[in-house]
Amino acid sequence: MSPTRRGRRMVALGLALLLVVLRACCAGQGVDDGSESDSPAAAAAAAAAASAGTAPMEEKQRAALYAAIEGFVGKDWNGSGLYPDPCGWSPIQGVSCDLFNGLWYPSSISIGPVLDNSLQCAPDAKFSPQLFDLRRLRTLSFYSCFPANNPTAIPAAGWEKLSGTLETLEFRTNPGLAGAIPASLGRLASLQSLVLVENNLTGGIPAELGALAKLRRLVISGNYGLSGPIPATLGNDRHDQLLIVDLSKNRLTGSLPPSLGALRGLLKMDLSNNLLQGSIPPSLGELKNLTLLDLRNNSLTGGLPAFILGMSSLQDLLLSNNPQLGGTLPASGWEKMSGNLATLDLSNAGLTGAIPESMAALSGLRFLALDHNRLTGSVPAALARLPSIGAMYLNGNNLTGALAFAPGFYQRMGRRFASWDNPGLCYDVAAVDAAHAPAGVVVCKSLQEPGGGGGGGEEGGGGRKPEASSSLMASSSSALAGLSAAGFWSVAAVLGAVLL
Ligand SMILES: *[C@@H]1O[C@H](CO)[C@@H](O)[C@H](O)[C@H]1NC(C)=O
Ligand SMILES: *[C@@H]1O[C@H](CO)[C@@H](O)[C@H](O)[C@H]1NC(C)=O
Ligand SMILES: *[C@@H]1O[C@H](CO)[C@@H](O)[C@H](O)[C@H]1NC(C)=O
Ligand SMILES: *[C@@H]1O[C@H](CO)[C@@H](O)[C@H](O)[C@H]1NC(C)=O
Ligand SMILES: *[C@@H]1O[C@H](CO)[C@@H](O)[C@H](O)[C@H]1NC(C)=O
Repeated sequence: MSPTRRGRRMVALGLALLLVVLRACCAGQGVDDGSESDSPAAAAAAAAAASAGTAPMEEKQRAALYAAIEGFVGKDWNGSGLYPDPCGWSPIQGVSCDLFNGLWYPSSISIGPVLDNSLQCAPDAKFSPQLFDLRRLRTLSFYSCFPANNPTAIPAAGWEKLSGTLETLEFRTNPGLAGAIPASLGRLASLQSLVLVENNLTGGIPAELGALAKLRRLVISGNYGLSGPIPATLGNDRHDQLLIVDLSKNRLTGSLPPSLGALRGLLKMDLSNNLLQGSIPPSLGELKNLTLLDLRNNSLTGGLPAFILGMSSLQDLLLSNNPQLGGTLPASGWEKMSGNLATLDLSNAGLTGAIPESMAALSGLRFLALDHNRLTGSVPAALARLPSIGAMYLNGNNLTGALAFAPGFYQRMGRRFASWDNPGLCYDVAAVDAAHAPAGVVVCKSLQEPGGGGGGGEEGGGGRKPEASSSLMASSSSALAGLSAAGFWSVAAVLGAVLL
């Protein structure tokens, strides 16, 4: 076992222990909402359970729990035999319970190969109708449950029964989870997190999801059969609470609905890797808390609008691989983004015109990609003074004149500075010796007899290709944001999935 692998195992083990501890300490802290009075039946159940030494539970809830899980893990699973007291002394891995009026109810079910003893789906896993009888269920999560040879649809009926309780619903990496996203998910009025990642869902995103007024996180990503437009209803006025919208890696078409600008609390918007068209609506400028705007790899047009520079919370602005975006880099206003902007990816965006000197005001910028555009003019020397810059790609443009960076700049940046494939660009051999010269750039002709080669002409071979930009880091962190108490199991599941 390699050290890193062992390290991950240790972290995973730590996580598992944490889960056990949390469960032991917090299991009894379910919030009593007072909606059920102490019925004689409940009292009788509690008394009977107490005398049997088990956690008191309605028989119907216990039976529904066994039936629901058996549907997923298979007929051979003998729940009542293996786990006679599922909310007490014989807990089921991945299931947790809450206490209401002296009775225990399953509150969270998490299925999938996260930990060694996790519940795992059978090859013929299916949704059991009893799942919807678990009327205190707050979290339901499936990871790697439905393989491609077990095509299964998300049930269309039943969700309304969970509308008062279900806060988190997640389906991750289920290649067999096929068919449409049921419109009835829009009836889960308590839902805070809906995650449908890497499944095989088809059809469109139902407009009914706009009715989920408590939603904080909406992630529908990596369903390559999912098409149609982004529903305008997602920008419902009641969605102040929405923090994360990730609809990346689908086949969504149409333009960005201007109503998205109403999501004032939004922190991350990732619509990358779709087939979206049209221009970036001015209303998005209202998203003053947005830290990530990822629109990479679409077919957007209409240029880089100046209002984006007013979105001063942005840390990652990613618009690469929109070859028809076009337009010029705004000549002024970059200083408005100076505090936060760390990543600016405008590679292969059809940009024309010059690189404005005012971009040097982006004092927090660490990554700047302007490669594979049609930029002209000279490279402002002031860019070398960007205090935080760690990578700068200017290759594949039509930049001209002499590069005027100091030798130390090229040395420090190494291959993370790219300016080759700019036929009119050169460097001043009097200022930079050949050993530290920018790769793939010739010596300025006025200072050197014709034919004199520049430093490291062929060195730029690898370089930065436009398609490289689509696997950038930004969105991977979104899975961990929006952590709420209710989402604990799901986050643990994600961590587990990442670590193991
Ligand atoms: C399940 O386990 C119980 C208790 O051990 C046993 O009585 C019952 O027959 C088992 N059921 C099946 C279907 O194996
Ligand atoms: C997705 O579903 C289609 C049928 O709708 C099937 O042909 C395809 O193999 C599935 N893809 C994966 C990755 O399982
Ligand atoms: C934006 O962020 C600030 C600071 O975190 C917060 O106080 C404010 O409520 C947020 N705005 C919205 C509309 O959520
Ligand atoms: C760009 O998005 C399309 C549509 O989703 C996808 O098929 C393609 O693989 C993506 N390209 C890259 C380089 O990620
Ligand atoms: C680059 O600029 C030169 C002169 O301005 C022009 O002739 C040439 O067509 C341009 N090349 C591209 C690829 O835009």
